[in-house]
Amino acid sequence: MKSIAGFVSAMHELFALELDDAERWRRVGVLLPMLLDDPELRASAKDWPTTQYANAATNLLFYEDPECKFVINGLVKDPHAATPIHDHAHTWTAYGVIEGSERVLRYTIAEGDGERAVLAPAGEYTVAPGYVDVVPPHEPHAEIAGEGRTVAVIVRSERVGGFPQNMYDLASGRIERRPGPTSIPHSL
Ligand SMILES: [Fe+2]
Repeated sequence: MKSIAGFVSAMHELFALELDDAERWRRVGVLLPMLLDDPELRASAKDWPTTQYANAATNLLFYEDPECKFVINGLVKDPHAATPIHDHAHTWTAYGVIEGSERVLRYTIAEGDGERAVLAPAGEYTVAPGYVDVVPPHEPHAEIAGEGRTVAVIVRSERVGGFPQNMYDLASGRIERRPGPTSIPHSL
């Protein structure tokens, strides 16, 4: 697909620059509309299968970069599907929706020893078409899909699923480590 090729080449130019990760990923967020606004990609999203039900998540894998390691994923949530509070471990994530919307609740770790954590709410906002969310490493958050089918395009700094991510239980403070979503190769 043309938009994927154009985005990958823009990503290679971006990764060739000397930047700190926060600035690099801010700029990935600026590039993401190359995918989100592409009519061909949006048309194909109508047929993407659901990847996230109640608490079980997978990601469609559209592209994995052999050199820079970033991946392009798709995520389709059923109405009202909610994730547990989790982080994305050491990875960066740029996240935008092309259909539907979801509420994101962010937290900071007020107190913690790696096994347990006291979380403090750190903001809540809606990710709707036209808004790109950039999620830094190790930041706890939860995502709650809205009324309709929610379709997201995600660019991650590497493929997830092969390393543990933290899942937080708000009431007990317990942290559980589980592998992130399994990637399901999907050609566009
Ligand atoms: Fe997340």
